[in-house]
Amino acid sequence: MSGKEVIFSGVQPSGDLTLGNYLGAIRNWVDLQDEYDCYYCVVDLHSITVPQEPKDLRRRTLEVMSLYMACGIDPKKSTIFIQSHVPEHVELSWVLSTMTYLGELNRMTQFKDKTKKNEKNLNAGLFTYPVLMASDILLYNTNAVPVGDDQKQHLELARDLADRFNNRYSNTFQVPEPLISKVGARIMDLQDPEKKMSKSAENENGYILLKDDPDTIRRKVKRSITDSINKVKYSDDQPGIKNLLTIYSKLTGEEIKDIEKRYTDKGYGEFKSDLAEVIVNHLSPIREKYLEYMNDKDYLKEVYNEGCEKASKVARKTLRKVYKKTGFMAR
Ligand code: TRP
Repeated sequence: MSGKEVIFSGVQPSGDLTLGNYLGAIRNWVDLQDEYDCYYCVVDLHSITVPQEPKDLRRRTLEVMSLYMACGIDPKKSTIFIQSHVPEHVELSWVLSTMTYLGELNRMTQFKDKTKKNEKNLNAGLFTYPVLMASDILLYNTNAVPVGDDQKQHLELARDLADRFNNRYSNTFQVPEPLISKVGARIMDLQDPEKKMSKSAENENGYILLKDDPDTIRRKVKRSITDSINKVKYSDDQPGIKNLLTIYSKLTGEEIKDIEKRYTDKGYGEFKSDLAEVIVNHLSPIREKYLEYMNDKDYLKEVYNEGCEKASKVARKTLRKVYKKTGFMAR
């Protein structure tokens, strides 16, 4: 045991990662690696709540892993693994589902939203998804989970389930805290700046993928929606420009007010073309490393096998305790 506090987080391999995933999440995970014992999971079990093409799912699982590493997550420091390789996630999920009230799951806003969008595929997995997520977190004695706004309610359930189990039996689970990043940013859709940037947006000009090539990035930034005020200013009346300024500032580390000042007498065209170069320069090395990892399947396999081994040790120990307390016969 390292004695460090534990962090757990995961991304679904259900689509391509965007600049929003990077600035909002993965980049911050990199900084946590030295201070914490980090588990970064590719949550493939979660992703099948929406139908996936099997071969795409396999490819994307490796893509997410490659991007983790290309962004700076180091498998020597952190445990990178694939959720379905550690069956304890599903096993704990069953036990916890018997302690979860239907009302709790009915209240989940993400489920309610998905229900609206996904009318033809209202499967039970979509409903119990937060229980599986609680299992992910609780198996590793997780102290903190870096989460965005959209996952806070799910984390709250994980906390409640940990308390509930601890109270019913005896102290077993660490109760996880949300880790709200000070530097995290909510990056919005380039075509509809009222919406969060997401790989599932209909218009592909709305998001920048970490694996987009430079010309694609330039084109998407150029086409991004702005306004007719024509002043580079961070203001709620100019959500498009506000979002572009956020991206600029997050990638360069420069204060927003300094960027505004520099562009006072300049138009959107110049600002956008400079921003495109900022993004290209930042993402190019990531993209190159990503492509290298994707071309080295043997190395990827080494990483996920080693990650699985490390994760399994902890998961097995937790599940054994849970089974024993629940009253299942030991083998
Ligand atoms: N539900 C999360 C999402 O869609 C992914 C996820 C699954 C997760 N298990 C997790 C995130 C555990 C943090 C911790 O983004």
